[in-house]
Amino acid sequence: MNILGIETSCDETAISIIETEGKVGENFKLKILANETLSQIELHRKYGGVFPALAKREHSLNLTPLFIRTINASGLLKELVNKNQESRIMNQEQNTEDLSTFLATRDPAKREILKLKSLLAREPEMWQMFEKEILPLDKPKIDVIAVTKGPGLEPALWTGINFAKALSLLWQIPIMPINHMEGHILVSLLKKEGENENEEVRIKNEGGEKEDENENKDLSPDVDKAESGSSILMNQNWDFPALALLISGGHTELVLMKDWFKYEIIGKTKDDAVGEAFDKVARILGLPYPGGPEISKLAEKWQKENKKGLGIKLPRPMIHSGDLDFSFSGLKTAVLYTVKKIPDLTDDIKEEISYEFENAVTETIMSKIEKAVSERDIKSIVVGGGVIANKRLREELRKTAEKLGVEIFIPEISHSTDNALMIATVCGAKISFNKEIMEKNQDLNWSADGNWRVDK
Ligand code: KG4
Ligand code: ZN
Repeated sequence: MNILGIETSCDETAISIIETEGKVGENFKLKILANETLSQIELHRKYGGVFPALAKREHSLNLTPLFIRTINASGLLKELVNKNQESRIMNQEQNTEDLSTFLATRDPAKREILKLKSLLAREPEMWQMFEKEILPLDKPKIDVIAVTKGPGLEPALWTGINFAKALSLLWQIPIMPINHMEGHILVSLLKKEGENENEEVRIKNEGGEKEDENENKDLSPDVDKAESGSSILMNQNWDFPALALLISGGHTELVLMKDWFKYEIIGKTKDDAVGEAFDKVARILGLPYPGGPEISKLAEKWQKENKKGLGIKLPRPMIHSGDLDFSFSGLKTAVLYTVKKIPDLTDDIKEEISYEFENAVTETIMSKIEKAVSERDIKSIVVGGGVIANKRLREELRKTAEKLGVEIFIPEISHSTDNALMIATVCGAKISFNKEIMEKNQDLNWSADGNWRVDK
């Protein structure tokens, strides 16, 4: 089955095409035919965070060209789309004022296009590009379109949803709304064919020097990412109940998974998400957005150089709260007060604060994981969300899982920040599990849901 995934919940416009086979829980696997991500980070940097109206506009400008690039890379179109194609079609028919009217009259099936035009009426720029670049294409071999319905920024979500609905109408392809957080969970179970799922852990346990190759790369996500051709398996003989730790810019959740696709949120942040705390602390320290990778770099430098500092101590919020909830807003305020007391915020002090902040976050998360594992008899842990690009957290989570005797699945760094592979993966996995789900998804009458919980 060929699946087109579309993701626009925040500041990455991402499109992915995968081919899936097998059934989840048995032999599900997939091949990435094309996987493209366009980041808007550079644009949002000047605002110190994601600016929703700007994100929406960028998505609507990015989606068509990114789709053309992805579909070309996937090899699913009969011929490559080139710039002359639409003029070639226009020239066949003289006196055509408007390509959509022309196609609608030429091919009765394409009368739907008039519906389509009204669907995209609120996105005039997107419609113009869609009309010029996508209407003339032959239907590609895509069986289902998966698009993020939520959670995320609603204006941003809507652009992806409208674009997906337009493709669905144009080519009569079913569409499936996907939960972004479920994407962060399932993408972490993917592993390249032939790779041992616990290889990273094993190498470390043997005392070798080799680390996850990706971990030493510059993690700044502000580059376009593309990937194709890899054959990927899903780790599926893991034991339930499993615990999913979701740590991103908008979420900090502990999710109990009793079985495939059965979720229950058993802990969450009462205020800021952990990624948000990284971003806010970075801003206090005068570091650029997004703050996670910046704090990470400074903390690592501090740790490596083993410097003597001021002995700054920050709180470990809610570590003794007796429940599985988090709170990071007080930790951020503690950083703010600490900084206010320091007349000269040198690079060394920034490094020390970054290191201590990472310590506080890491210790808090580990203590909640330990509590959840013992209380809920957890057998496996899966971690997802942008913050798991953090090297320190990756290391500590592996150590904690080993200490607790549970399996742990951590995503490749390139799959940890937002992407569309995760959206297509959820769709493929769910359909493989329950084919009837496709019939339930013929309807186009649904909306973005900025607060969609993974367990609802
Ligand atoms: O999942 P994601 O890409 O977007 C959301 O759905 O929120 O996560 C983005 C978050 C940002 O807050 C960013 O600062 C954080 O992930 N992040 C990191 C690192 N890389 C990205 N946080 C800590 N350490 C990192 N290396
Ligand atoms: Zn995310």
